[in-house]
Amino acid sequence: MGELGGKEVIRVEEDAEAEVRIWKYVFGFVEMAVVKCAIELKIADVIEAHGQPITLSELSTALGCSSYLLHRIMRFLVCQKIFQEKCTSNGTKGYAPTSISRLLMRHGERSMAALVLLESSPVMLAPWHYLSACVRQNDRPAFEAAHGKDIWSYAAEHPAHSELINDAMACDARAGINFDLPHVVSVAPESNGVKHVGGDMFAAVPKANTAFLKWVLHDWGDEEQVVIKEDEDHKFKDVGLMLDMVMLAHTANGQERTKEEWGSILTKAGFSRFTVKPIDAAVQSVIIAYP
Ligand SMILES: C[S@@+](CC[C@H](N)C(=O)[O-])C[C@H]1O[C@@H](n2cnc3c(N)ncnc32)[C@H](O)[C@@H]1O
Repeated sequence: MGELGGKEVIRVEEDAEAEVRIWKYVFGFVEMAVVKCAIELKIADVIEAHGQPITLSELSTALGCSSYLLHRIMRFLVCQKIFQEKCTSNGTKGYAPTSISRLLMRHGERSMAALVLLESSPVMLAPWHYLSACVRQNDRPAFEAAHGKDIWSYAAEHPAHSELINDAMACDARAGINFDLPHVVSVAPESNGVKHVGGDMFAAVPKANTAFLKWVLHDWGDEEQVVIKEDEDHKFKDVGLMLDMVMLAHTANGQERTKEEWGSILTKAGFSRFTVKPIDAAVQSVIIAYP
């Protein structure tokens, strides 16, 4: 048998790499599912609260679960670098937190646990099964195909799901007006200096000198006169593109937009100029539009 030429060698290497990568797609859901499991069990909270590396037996006792099953979950999460293994004070193997596990604590300041729980909920996962039909037919949004109505009407009728959304989106405004749909503000916690106002932004919005629209405009199509989003060279570009897929699955016309696309919408909406400020270590950018 003759030796392989340069091109064939590259092809063989690419095929070998493809075989490794394809498993990521076959079992892509596993990472999300196990992280969801860890959040529900409050593994990150218990490990953090322990203050020093915790053994498997201490962890399973604290969580009240089988140490054999927990060992398998922890082995996966350590491999994902969500937790790390460290020696305990008496020299046995223990688990310790990482920067990622701190984001998975139920009530940490920068916790993203609620967002994981929302996106991994059966209600939010169902529309993904309709993605190809939605792309092929382009007549019925995926969320509507799965649930018969858009996400906001669905949330208004299903308080448990609305609570999941509200927890994930918890508004961090510290002053001014918090404006949202009536069923959302009716359960918003009181906060000093924040006035909750319910309404439909397509009917009217409260008068104010400045309006901050956070995670809102990407939910809507151009007809609704939306504004906001992402610099193409942003280091979170991959996440931005994933968010664009999420908008496709979960909203009727929502999308993530490039700077040029935002520019054209803002011009159409009558703004004279705008600036885009990326936020360090965040997927979002701030777009400031001037009348
Ligand atoms: C992705 S969440 C963003 C929440 C919040 N601004 C934040 O920073 O996390 C989008 C919000 O838009 C609200 N919303 C949807 N339709 C609306 C409408 N017609 N009028 C006012 N708010 C609306 C939803 O209830 C939801 O809370």
